[in-house]
Amino acid sequence: MQPSSGSNDNAAAQIELHRALAPRYAYRYSFEFSRLFQEDWHACMLRLMPAGARRVLDLGCGTGFFLAELERLRPGAVGLDISHAMLLVSEQYVPGARLVTADAEKLPFKGGSFDTVFCKGSLHHTRDHVRFLENCRRALSKDGVLIMSEPCNDNFLIRWARYLLYRFSPHFDLGDQGFTKSGLLELYRKAGFEVTYAGRYGVFAYLFAGFPDHLGVLRFVPGNASLVRAMLKLDRWICSTRFLRILSFQVVVAGKPAPTAAANP
Ligand SMILES: C[S@@+](CC[C@H](N)C(=O)[O-])C[C@H]1O[C@@H](n2cnc3c(N)ncnc32)[C@H](O)[C@@H]1O
Repeated sequence: MQPSSGSNDNAAAQIELHRALAPRYAYRYSFEFSRLFQEDWHACMLRLMPAGARRVLDLGCGTGFFLAELERLRPGAVGLDISHAMLLVSEQYVPGARLVTADAEKLPFKGGSFDTVFCKGSLHHTRDHVRFLENCRRALSKDGVLIMSEPCNDNFLIRWARYLLYRFSPHFDLGDQGFTKSGLLELYRKAGFEVTYAGRYGVFAYLFAGFPDHLGVLRFVPGNASLVRAMLKLDRWICSTRFLRILSFQVVVAGKPAPTAAANP
């Protein structure tokens, strides 16, 4: 797929891309072992949500698998996505949630509407990252938290594998990019956030259980759910070990609006 250039071109490209991907996502989350993995990933992000947070937004909620969990924990959760086709699948998973079709680069919410904004794998599909993050900051209450998980490119092997995937797979736009951890932290700061957490997520379980629509080998392995549980333990150890955590596929970052940003909305 060709890279899309400006933000508007990209929005059109992402809508087109995700129209075709919606059924694949439903398939991706249809196995016990892949759901186990996704739920562990969600738990890693949910741990960062303040206990008092009530109004929650999932930005780029896709087919709504995470949103369904948010809605159970915080009824009235809102899911936003640029792809109406993805949201049509969300509607089946999460009948109670509020779903909004919109571009995260032009958020349609009043300032201070949410206590927590989650974003799992959507920022790298957009082009104006600082604007995206500034919009998140405006949508948050002053003590609100933005919690993101995005593809991590710190490891050059992963960076190259990702480049080849994005270059040759019809399921990505070549303009999509992963982030280095320090690069993502810098974007948070530029957008007026104070970073409160930065960690790593996902190695073996991410690779083997995250995308059965791309790499489906575990579908044929007896006891795959137990195997994924063991991988998740191993991954947690790797991600917390100094010289190994560079093997992780995701970076997880949380931040709250910096006090100085409130004066400069
Ligand atoms: C990798 S998928 C992740 C979906 C979901 N968060 C999940 O974990 O299954 C990225 C999602 O971001 C959405 N997206 C891409 N660009 C967007 C934008 N500018 N505004 C809102 N959503 C966008 C896509 O339609 C897609 O559903």
